[in-house]
Amino acid sequence: MKNILITGGAGYIGSHTAVELVKAGYRPIVLDDFSNSDPSVIERVSEIIGQKLICFEGDCNDKSVLEKIHAEYPLEGVIHFAAFKAVGESTVLPLKYYQNNVGSLTVLLEFMQEKGIKNIVFSSSCTVYGQPDKLPVTEETPRKDAESPYGNTKKICEDILVDFVKSKANVRVVSLRYFNPVGAHPSSKIGELPNGTPNNLVPFVTQTAAGIREKITVFGNDYDTVDGSCVRDFIHVMDLADAHVKALSYLDQKNAPFYDVFNVGTGNGNTVLEIIETFEKVNDLKLNYEIGPRRAGDVVKIWADTKKINEVLGWFPKYSLEDSMRDSWNWQKSLAN
Ligand SMILES: NC(=O)c1ccc[n+]([C@@H]2O[C@H](COP(=O)([O-])OP(=O)(O)OC[C@H]3O[C@@H](n4cnc5c(N)ncnc54)[C@H](O)[C@@H]3O)[C@@H](O)[C@H]2O)c1
Repeated sequence: MKNILITGGAGYIGSHTAVELVKAGYRPIVLDDFSNSDPSVIERVSEIIGQKLICFEGDCNDKSVLEKIHAEYPLEGVIHFAAFKAVGESTVLPLKYYQNNVGSLTVLLEFMQEKGIKNIVFSSSCTVYGQPDKLPVTEETPRKDAESPYGNTKKICEDILVDFVKSKANVRVVSLRYFNPVGAHPSSKIGELPNGTPNNLVPFVTQTAAGIREKITVFGNDYDTVDGSCVRDFIHVMDLADAHVKALSYLDQKNAPFYDVFNVGTGNGNTVLEIIETFEKVNDLKLNYEIGPRRAGDVVKIWADTKKINEVLGWFPKYSLEDSMRDSWNWQKSLAN
């Protein structure tokens, strides 16, 4: 069984990916410092997979922790989720973001090179495209100047990986540019668990429905879109998790050094108002929302061209927007129990 290190594996996307890795016959080894997750996630994943999820508590900037893990469970690959992701905070504390997001990647790559671990899948983001000139965005769409230090860390990490491969390092890399992950595991045992005020739309929606927040504000309804609100490509987290499994087996077929990049989205754009409507419809409830002014720095519309990931990795999304909205609400409700 192949041991795959998942840094940040207790987080939202990492925990769902751990489940999919087990299903595909891998042994996920989680490394997380719980700076943005709760240790109970490990038990919850263990319940879903029917075995104990192996987890090390520690900082992936600390090479000695990586060495300890490798000594116990010789690693065949890494999925690097661990990062800070709060866009607003990154503008106030940029060094925190550069240190953790960029620093951890360099430590990890050095460690991989020393130990001869070849495969790495990196969590990038559609944020690298900024406000695109043409839609949908393909992997060839030029990246724009980042709107935030967080976004810049993703661009820099992609560049580091490209340069590392160019240096003929013995590695095989896939960067996955996630669009907007939503939804939760259908069991409702794991899902998105934001600390404090959510940064993403759907946790705001579910927390408002649960009465934790009074109302949700839609930032602008006068953009050039079907209903005036911003457009995003919302991808179910289980589909996103599956993309990592496909990326790992793709890497196994390649000769090092190797680099590739894929968009992971549905290929469809939905507006913020459509999300609210769909959430209300599938869950048969009404949300308290208001229209507010436009928010500075918001990308107006973006969705993915998914031809490359469909054709090269054979990956297609299986979950609908309705599934995402149902699973997100079931997850939120489970938190009250
Ligand atoms: N959720 C999104 O909307 C989104 C979109 C695009 C890209 N991404 C990227 O995907 C990755 C995972 O995102 P997520 O939504 O699951 O975030 P998350 O915050 O839920 O998960 C990240 C996990 O990493 C851990 N962590 C952070 N720094 C660490 C360190 N130095 N050592 C060990 N553990 C550390 C946190 O405790 C957390 O459990 C991140 O790299 C993020 O930037 C997320």
